[in-house]
Amino acid sequence: MDINTLKKSFFKHFGNPGLEPYIYFAPGRVNLIGEHTDYNNGYVLPCALKFGTWLLIRKRNNDIINLVSENFKYTTNIPFPNINKKHGTEWVNYPLGVINQLQAKGLKPEGVDMLYFGNIPTGSGLSSSASIEVVTAEAFNDLFNLNLGEVEIVKLSQKAENEFVGVNCGIMDQFAVGMGKADYAIFLDCGTLNYQLVPLELQDYKIVISNTNKQRKLAGSKYNERVAECAMAVKHLNKVRPLQTLSELTFQEFIDLKQHIPDITIRKRAKHVVSEDQRVLDAVKALKENNLKIFGELMNASHNSLRYDYEVTGRELDILSELARKRKGVLGSRMTGAGFGGCTVSLVRETDIENFILEVGQTYHELTGLKAEFYISEVGDGVRRVQGINA
Ligand code: GLA
Repeated sequence: MDINTLKKSFFKHFGNPGLEPYIYFAPGRVNLIGEHTDYNNGYVLPCALKFGTWLLIRKRNNDIINLVSENFKYTTNIPFPNINKKHGTEWVNYPLGVINQLQAKGLKPEGVDMLYFGNIPTGSGLSSSASIEVVTAEAFNDLFNLNLGEVEIVKLSQKAENEFVGVNCGIMDQFAVGMGKADYAIFLDCGTLNYQLVPLELQDYKIVISNTNKQRKLAGSKYNERVAECAMAVKHLNKVRPLQTLSELTFQEFIDLKQHIPDITIRKRAKHVVSEDQRVLDAVKALKENNLKIFGELMNASHNSLRYDYEVTGRELDILSELARKRKGVLGSRMTGAGFGGCTVSLVRETDIENFILEVGQTYHELTGLKAEFYISEVGDGVRRVQGINA
C-alpha cells in the first residue's frame, strides 16, 4: 500500500482533505542472537527491518482520540481523559498505553485522528507491537513538541507494554525499533543501555526470516512465566551470592553456584540466560572478525538452548530450524523473538536462497500441514518522520 492510498483512506475516515496529516514510520526488528536475555539485563543483537508500521496523524479541535487501522477491524474513538484502562485484547491498547504514559511526560489532553498501517506479519515475533508503540510515541513527541530523546521514547514504549498491555517484556524490541540503523546490528547491554552499532557485513550471505505461521497461543502468559522463573532463580542464588539479575554471572560462576537452585526447571532457565549472554559476546566478536561460520554455529547453539533449557521453541520452530541447518549454504538457523511460534532467522548463501525457500517450505508443509513464509530481510533505519515513501 503506498502513501497516497493511505492518505485517501485517512481522509475517507476523518474528512477534511485540505488538512494534511503528518506521517511517521517505525520498523519491525529481527533479533540475530541474545534471546530472553533482555529482561535479565543481558546482551542482545537485534537489527531493524525495512517493513514496519506507518502512522498518519492529525490534530483535532477537541479531545477525542480516533484510532483506525488498515490491518484490524476494531476501531475506536475515545475521549482523551478516559485513557486509563485496557480495551479487551485489541491492538488499540498499544497506542493507548503509549498515550497514557505520555501524559506523565507533559502531554496535554488533545484529540487526534490516527490511521495505522503495518506490513509486519502479525504474531510473527518481528515486533509489530513495539513498532506500533514506538511510532505512536515518536509522532506525539514531534507533533506536540514534547522534547523527549530517542531513548526516552524507547523506555516509555516498553513501560506502556509492561504497565498498560500487561506483558513484562524487556527493552530489546523497542530499542531496536527506535535506534536501528540501516546495515548495522545493535549490540545492546540491556542493563546499562550502552550500545554499539556493529556493521553487518555478511559477504555472500543474507538473513532469511522464515515464518512458521503457527498461531502463538498463550505467548503472553508463557512469556511472563519465564520472566518469573528467572526472578526465582535470582532469589535462590541470592541466598549464597548477592545479585540483582542473572546476567551478572559468568557461565563458570553459574556452574559453581547452580546447585543452590533446587528446582531443575528453574536451573535450566538460568543456564540458558547465562550461556546466551556469552554467545552474544562471542557472536559480536565473530562478526567483527568476519567469521560468519562461528556466528552461524552460535545461532544453532542459541536455538538448542532455547529448545532444551528455556523450552520456548515448539515443534514448528524446531522443524524449520532443523530443515534449514541440514542444507548446504546455511551457516546457522535459530528462532527469533519470544518463541512459541513466530519466526526463525537463518544465514543463507545468496545463491542457495531460491532452493532454500522452495525445499524447506515444501518439507515443512509435509511435516506440519502449515505453509511457511519467507522474507529476505534487509536491515533498515529506526523510527522517523517520513514523506511520501512507498509502503
Ligand atoms: C519478546 C520481548 C523482548 C524479548 C524477546 C525474547 O520479543 O518483547 O523483550 O524478551 O521476546 O528475547
